[in-house]
Amino acid sequence: MSFNDPIDRRGTQSSKWDMMEELYDVPAEDGLAMWTADSDYPTAPCVIDALRKAADHGVFGYMPIYDEYLQAVQWWMKTRHNWEIDTSWILTSQGLGNAIALCLDVWTDPGARVVTFNPVYHEFRVKAEKAGRSVVACPLKREGSQYVLDLEDAQSRLDGSEQMLIWCSPQNPSGRVWTADELRAVADFAVRNDLILVSDEIHHDLVFPGATFVPMHIAAPEITDRLVLLTAASKTFNIAGQRTGNMIIPDPKLRSDMQKRLNALDYKPAGLSLRMITAAYSPEGADWADAQIAHLDENRKLFDAAIADIPGAASMPLQATYLAWVDFSGTGMRFEEISHRVRKVARIAPSSGPDFGPGGETCLRFNLATQRARVEEACTRLKDAFSDLQ
Ligand SMILES: Cc1ncc(COP(=O)(O)O)c(C=O)c1O
Repeated sequence: MSFNDPIDRRGTQSSKWDMMEELYDVPAEDGLAMWTADSDYPTAPCVIDALRKAADHGVFGYMPIYDEYLQAVQWWMKTRHNWEIDTSWILTSQGLGNAIALCLDVWTDPGARVVTFNPVYHEFRVKAEKAGRSVVACPLKREGSQYVLDLEDAQSRLDGSEQMLIWCSPQNPSGRVWTADELRAVADFAVRNDLILVSDEIHHDLVFPGATFVPMHIAAPEITDRLVLLTAASKTFNIAGQRTGNMIIPDPKLRSDMQKRLNALDYKPAGLSLRMITAAYSPEGADWADAQIAHLDENRKLFDAAIADIPGAASMPLQATYLAWVDFSGTGMRFEEISHRVRKVARIAPSSGPDFGPGGETCLRFNLATQRARVEEACTRLKDAFSDLQ
């Protein structure tokens, strides 16, 4: 099966497609769902084979987090990211949204302040606020066509009551892959301000040629005593609905804090998802992930070229992720007008930039993990919706 084979996800209980009309008022019949971060093509054949094998066996009894699973995660980190981890460092969560909520619960007090660098994945703020914490949103700085850190500005926003930094690497929504120097600067910032650093690395496999992802643990091993790394196979292999992520915690004290909380909540992962991830983190899975990157690379080039044809719109060059971050500020339009043209005229449902916090006011985020024909259709519709500017 190719990444371009047509698939209709409507009517399959897909959040992205079946909730589009309710959430974005874009009609399901001919709308294009380009919001939440899952892909429109099937996962790797090796993952589907593992599920088939389990279904043929037919017994779905209790299952521990078994060694083969832990070794597959370890193998993947070593082979794909040159990162040596011990299998004892791996704890699982119900996906990384859940992992972020667990980290807030374990390492921050009610009412505490939590630091983010924005624009950033909106759920960092949502999870913190739902847990009764507040967010100090520190703006990233635009430098040329990408975001860079402004740690001096960030420092000036802190009042000493912050307990955690939730960091996104590679970055959603800008697709930035941070350099080792930038990562070390963030690690220093966490030390200076006595923050637990939660490094959400969920997009670490979706890196385009020319960029190199560095795990925070490699960039700044000296901050291990305050570092929690979050990874998952969910974005890479389009298995987000299986709700399983990894919390990789090298420090024994931090790990024991989290393990106690998981025990108290009687948290145990779903067996089928462990089987799927074990199958994904394999040489066959790696080949499929490479082929996916080649597909996404073409999609982003096509999309960026179309956006470049719209006067006043600018697509941030992606180093990673399949999430294109488009700033329409050069059109001079307010967000309502931009949104109206994209949703009501082009009938496309992207994610809303303002949800990502400061910096996202005039932006939309488009998910490009779909068939080429859909990207082409989106390009045509977008150019038409802004044709009066040309
Ligand atoms: C940076 C980041 N973290 C976490 C998540 C959510 O992950 P999960 O589906 O495992 O809860 C996403 C989903 O888009 C994401 O982009």
